[in-house]
Amino acid sequence: MGRQLTISCFRYNPNIPGDKPRMQDYKLEEYEGMTLFVALNDIREKLDPTLMFDFVCRAAICGSCAMLINGRPRLACKTMTRTLPSRFTVMPLPVFKLIGDLSVDTGTWFRDLQVRAEAWIHTNKKFDFNALEVRMDNKIAEDIYDPEQCIECGCCVANCITANIRPDFIGSTGINRLYRFLIDPRDERTDAEYYEVIGNEDGTFGCVGLMACDDMCPKEIPLQENLAYVRRKMAAAGLKLTFQGVKIS
Ligand code: SF4
Ligand code: FES
Repeated sequence: MGRQLTISCFRYNPNIPGDKPRMQDYKLEEYEGMTLFVALNDIREKLDPTLMFDFVCRAAICGSCAMLINGRPRLACKTMTRTLPSRFTVMPLPVFKLIGDLSVDTGTWFRDLQVRAEAWIHTNKKFDFNALEVRMDNKIAEDIYDPEQCIECGCCVANCITANIRPDFIGSTGINRLYRFLIDPRDERTDAEYYEVIGNEDGTFGCVGLMACDDMCPKEIPLQENLAYVRRKMAAAGLKLTFQGVKIS
């Protein structure tokens, strides 16, 4: 017989007039290999079909099931209940717009980030359908693969002090996204052009260095290392622009 779990879930549906934020306890028996995703699914199937939470892949790939588990942002599908006490809380991620209960809208936030950070290859080369594919150096391809592993779960954003108090801060995930293009030789932007995008308090200089993002990334992306690289480049670009007499807005 497994442990009796008490899962205290945040409940609130902003679409129901008069609904009030509250915590609701659900009791269920734990079994071998149970993840929090499985437990929440059991609650929805057996106890309360109205409980809202998100999932797609159940394998730490899609990033949909991130939530605050006992106050820490984690993926429900990657969290074994045996690693938690028999009573614990689950709440929606802060920063993102609440859809209801444990479900938040990370999609709009990340879409906005993509546009603001201009997260695509900038090149003046014309695409030639007949040209042979240009092979990328293995080392560079591997270096790009690391930051590319972001699954847009939002855990680093939810754990970031700056992102919690400044809605326009692009967060370490945004800076990580820019890092991915900075090291890509196909992107022809100059450092000064990158500076225009992230050389400010909403970008690379907004981080106060508490490193809370780094601790929470389920894909173990070295966010602080990547941020430090971008910050060094942007500080140098800022100085250069100042010495060239370019007015920095
Ligand atoms: Fe999630 Fe890590 Fe991407 Fe942040 S950088 S959104 S924690 S996968
Ligand atoms: Fe896809 Fe958890 S369900 S990451």
